[in-house]
Formats: sequence, structure tokens, C-alpha cells
Amino acid sequence: MEKVLVIGRGAREHALAHKALASGRLEVFVAPGNAGMQPPLQRVPLEEKDIAGLRQFIRKEKIHYVLVGPELPIARGIYDDLHDLAPVLAPPQKLSFLEASKAKAKHFLQTAGIPTAEAVIFDYTRQVEAERYLQAASYPLVIKASGLAAGKGVLIATNAEEAIAFARGCLTGSLFQGAGQTIVVERFLVGEERSVLLLSDGKGYVILPVARDYKRLLSGDQGPNTGGMGVYAPAADTQWLDIVKETVLEPTFAALRRAGTPYVGFLYVGLIWVEGEPYVLEYNIRLGDPEAQVVLPLVANSLEELLYYWRIQKLSELKLRLKPGYAVGVVAATAGYPDAPKGGALIEVPPLAEGGTLLGEQTYVYWAGVEADEGGKLRTTGGRTYTVVGLGDTLEAARQRAYAGLEKLPFEGRQYREDIALNPQNVA
Ligand code: GLY
Repeated sequence: MEKVLVIGRGAREHALAHKALASGRLEVFVAPGNAGMQPPLQRVPLEEKDIAGLRQFIRKEKIHYVLVGPELPIARGIYDDLHDLAPVLAPPQKLSFLEASKAKAKHFLQTAGIPTAEAVIFDYTRQVEAERYLQAASYPLVIKASGLAAGKGVLIATNAEEAIAFARGCLTGSLFQGAGQTIVVERFLVGEERSVLLLSDGKGYVILPVARDYKRLLSGDQGPNTGGMGVYAPAADTQWLDIVKETVLEPTFAALRRAGTPYVGFLYVGLIWVEGEPYVLEYNIRLGDPEAQVVLPLVANSLEELLYYWRIQKLSELKLRLKPGYAVGVVAATAGYPDAPKGGALIEVPPLAEGGTLLGEQTYVYWAGVEADEGGKLRTTGGRTYTVVGLGDTLEAARQRAYAGLEKLPFEGRQYREDIALNPQNVA
């Protein structure tokens, strides 16, 4: 039996591990995972940054593939640290700028001629200039901390006062632990957003079903930005995807080839469709969360088939088969999320199978911020707690299942959006 090690601790990693388990032909370890992840998944008590421990474990268990969920270990260079021991599905550190430096990613997009919002970049040495620029600008506009800020480093500013306060916090280093000492100020684009996730083997790639993420905390797209409160897929037709391939994906991979370092692993391209054209909002060097939770259950090919084609660099020849229908995911978060999440709430959990995921007919829960208390009960740790995913022949059937599943996992102070997949819009 081949062995897979998933690195990370959230709902995305649970979905990845669940997909790996599905065929019954892979042994699946998760490091460190979370308390919601149940046998046959095997948790390994190693932190994402414990490279020495991970190396020892990979050697001891003779792991065949390492799948990395979050961006931070990738940006720290986990591919470079581990790939001599086992194939790692993550890009080398050299390419992590695509997500870890919004300024460099913007330069990459502009140089490659890929449609993206016009932008101006300021670093901390140009604070006075940045403030002058923001004072004179028209609003709304978008300000992004260039570095990794756990999904919090973006402000859609509606006036100069809030723009300057945010930019000052970024540039002086008082916000985001210095991850904003360079900022990207860009035009605010209006349109439908989509997340395109793909897997690249260094030579070719396979595109997974396109997803629609809901980033704001509250129903009706109100409240602060979050990592994503809900999602559905598929959310685009083939004709749309052909345009994305031609104007975004092919130029992206051509530019990466020219740069000389093959991209291996998952890539997430955040797009917005403006007047018939897709613009790149961001690259992420990983699967999206909560996108992975709906995209992976829709793929009919087994994970080992994907891994096999990835390893022999023939992904461009893989026939991706999709399950019919739709998947809808709703994220539940604790009180206070995203700014000051509170943990400690007890979650009543019915008996679950399939690695702690099966919640009802075609309904799954993927766990994130949970821990076991002394009595073995699950409690929230504060923040994103779980994603419930419903599958169905229609979007509405999938939605109904997701919300019915959510009713089975209450906890005090729970926040979730009630409008996920409610009024889907076409992209063009
Ligand atoms: N859902 C957005 C992200 O994963 O960054």
C-alpha cells in the first residue's frame, strides 16, 4: 500500500486526506491534523515547521508522497527541505513569491502580459509618497499587504482616511507583523469572482472544477473579509475555461518555464471577470480553503491516479472525470471570527464514519479549529471550526444537504452565512 503524508491542520487538509482514503488503497497520515480527524486517518504529532521530525517520519514510514496544505510551510521552503526523501506536491520556495509577495506577483503578471488590475507599489521607505498618493486617489481602491498575512492583509478602502490609516499600519510594520512593509495599491475591479485550482507536474497540468468562494463574513456580502465562509462548484462552463486557459494559464506557465524553475504542486488562481475578460486577482501556491472541500469530492478519479500521472509528468494526458452534480460547502466559525475569535465551545457531534467526515447521505464535515477536551469531546479552538459539504444532482439539492448537515453540529456563538450558493451568477 502506498503511503501519503498530508501536512496541515485545517478543513482543506481533512478534505485532501479524505480524498486520499476514498479508494481504500492508500495509507494516509496527517501532520499534525486536528482532533476531528478520525481513524483510519493517522495523525502524526509533528508541527508543519518541524522539518527534522518530518524528515525522520518520512524515512521511517517510507512515505511515497507528501501533500502540503497551507502556504506558510511552502513559503518557508518545505519542498526544498523534503523532496530528496519523497515527491512533494508543493512548489519550490523560489516560486512561492507568487503568493508570498503580492508585489513580485504583480510584476510577474505585468511582465507576462496577463490581465490584472493596474497597481502602484510602495515600500516602507516611501510612506510619505504613499500617503500623498492615497490622499489624491479616487475610491474605492484596494490595498494589499505584500507578504503573507493569513488572509487578512487586504482592504477595500472607500475613503482616503481609512486607506491612509491601513497603509500606515502596514508600512510602519504595526500591522501583520511586518508582512505589509511593502503594499500594492490597485484599482478596485467589479465583477464575478472565481477560483481556478489546478495541479501541475512541472510539464503539464490538470484543471479541477472551478469554484465560487464567498469571502465576506456575513450573508449578503457584508462584514469583514475572511478566508472564505462558503463555496460551491462547479461554477463555470467550459467555454469560460477555454478563455482562462488562453489568456491566463498558458501565459502563466510559459512565464514560469522562462524563469527556469518548474512549478510542481497545486496552484490557485483567483480571477474576476470584468467586461468579458478574466483578470487575475491573486495566485496562491496551494489549494484554496474552502475551495478544496468542494472541488476534491467532485473529482471521480482516485487520488492515486492523479498522483501517478503527476509523478510521471503526464497530467496533461489525464482524463479528468467529474462526478455529476454540484457540491456546496458552508464554513462555521466561532464568535469573534475573524478579528478576535473565541474558543472553548462544546460541539455536539453525532457518530461519524469515513475518517470523521460522513455526516449524512452525501453530506460531509471537514474539521478545522477543534481540539478534544479531557472527556474526549470536541471543543472549538477559535476561528474557522469546520466546513459542511453537501453533494447533489442540482445546486439547490447540494445546498439543502449542506445546511441540513450544519444543523447537526451546533455550538455556542457559531457564525455562518445563510446565502451560500443561493443566487448564483454567471461569470460573463
Ligand atoms: N479561499 C481563499 C483562500 O484559500 O485563500
